[in-house]
Amino acid sequence: MKALRLDRLLANLGYGSRREVEGLARAGLVRLDGQSLRDASQRVPLDPDLPERMTVQGEALDPLPGVCLMLHKPLGVTCSHKEAGPLVYGLLPERWRRRDPALSTVGRLDKETSGLLLMTDDGALLHRIISPKAKVSKRYRVSLARPLQGDEAAILASGELMLEGEDRPLLPVGMETEDATHCTVMLHEGRYHQVRRMFAALGNHVDALHRDRVGGLALPTDLEAGGYRVLGPGEIASLFAAG
Ligand code: URA
Repeated sequence: MKALRLDRLLANLGYGSRREVEGLARAGLVRLDGQSLRDASQRVPLDPDLPERMTVQGEALDPLPGVCLMLHKPLGVTCSHKEAGPLVYGLLPERWRRRDPALSTVGRLDKETSGLLLMTDDGALLHRIISPKAKVSKRYRVSLARPLQGDEAAILASGELMLEGEDRPLLPVGMETEDATHCTVMLHEGRYHQVRRMFAALGNHVDALHRDRVGGLALPTDLEAGGYRVLGPGEIASLFAAG
């Protein structure tokens, strides 16, 4: 089991500088299994259940490094660390923005797309999810400006649709029609603005876009827009199961 000095662990989780964290420990504000840990230089084993056993200033410890969470991204927020306007990172607790390693989004959703967005500080996991080899599918609910013509599902399934400015056709996309202007699409790759550009290539226009599933993990209906949830090992494994 990996162990870290208490001051390094808490500083890396954004609780303050190592000196500030040392002050918290000395003041008896860091507790493990109900006992104050006053020596910030002591090493703490990073047991998975540490957040349930350790408190800082009376509150449960934040998730340990290696966290993966799902966020219900609302419309109007950007998947970026530095653009102007509201950012997805602003939806997380303030302290989490000082974590090292930092949280990143697993791919991106457009500012005007809502739905399931994964975030992690685990670079290896991030690459495993976005790697083309892993074939993690993504499902989107699409609202269209104009009625479907009837041939879209066949064209998307053909693996021959070319997006403007590209020289390689899209991998086959699964499509299910809900009504004249609503459908779901299942992608197995992630090209820039793929769904919007796909429907533009089909002569339509996407009015609204929402991602409701990544691999075998669905956005829970009780997770409201702007809310997030830390994933457990079973949910992380479900990302790699068929969608
Ligand atoms: N396709 C898009 O066009 N936008 C997204 O945000 C995701 C997929």
